[in-house]
Amino acid sequence: MKAILAAPWVYDLAQYIIRGTRYAPRFVRECVRPKPGDRVLDIGCGTGVMLRYMPEVKYVGFDMSQPYIDACEQRFGSRGEFHCQLLTADTVADYGEFDIVLAIGVVHHLDDAQASNMFSLARSALVPGGRLLTLDGVYTDDQSAFVKRMLRNDRGEYVRTEPAYKALAAPVFGTVSASVRHDLFRIPYTVLIMECTK
Ligand SMILES: C[S@@+](CC[C@H](N)C(=O)[O-])C[C@H]1O[C@@H](n2cnc3c(N)ncnc32)[C@H](O)[C@@H]1O
Repeated sequence: MKAILAAPWVYDLAQYIIRGTRYAPRFVRECVRPKPGDRVLDIGCGTGVMLRYMPEVKYVGFDMSQPYIDACEQRFGSRGEFHCQLLTADTVADYGEFDIVLAIGVVHHLDDAQASNMFSLARSALVPGGRLLTLDGVYTDDQSAFVKRMLRNDRGEYVRTEPAYKALAAPVFGTVSASVRHDLFRIPYTVLIMECTK
């Protein structure tokens, strides 16, 4: 399954089936709330779905997958910068400060040490008052057996509970607000959105 999803068009098709077409514009409008001219860093940008729904921003996307980065360059050209590399402290320093950092569908791919590092990098990349937004599948007591099975079969090996996600973000960001959503995707699914303010 991982190998199949490595092809950008298969990834996009899977996202279309699971997330549907309303999710990304709604998430950008309600949660990201970018303003024209904002500097946006997208960690694990995938095929760049969020950029499609943003106004004219200064967008920098990082992903480990070269095919995904190639797809971003073909689709968005000069609307953003796209880099196939892991984000490191040096890279963050090279790109200056951002108003918004996104890590959408990323934290559940990272173990606790990698996730803590990602939160620290994200914080260091933000201007004071800037925000990191994360969105990941989450286990809750009130979700169906179907959703639990979907989460267990996710490509990410570190789907967590809400307290476990918050425990990673809170030591790095003083202010973390979190909301559990059961209604964001086309199919039944539960995600946790965290907004971490510097
Ligand atoms: C589930 S996909 C989400 C992609 C995109 N954010 C979206 O919402 O469609 C997770 C992405 O994170 C990338 N990724 C995982 N760990 C990463 C890391 N340490 N640095 C950069 N990208 C990473 C993977 O290559 C993959 O494209």
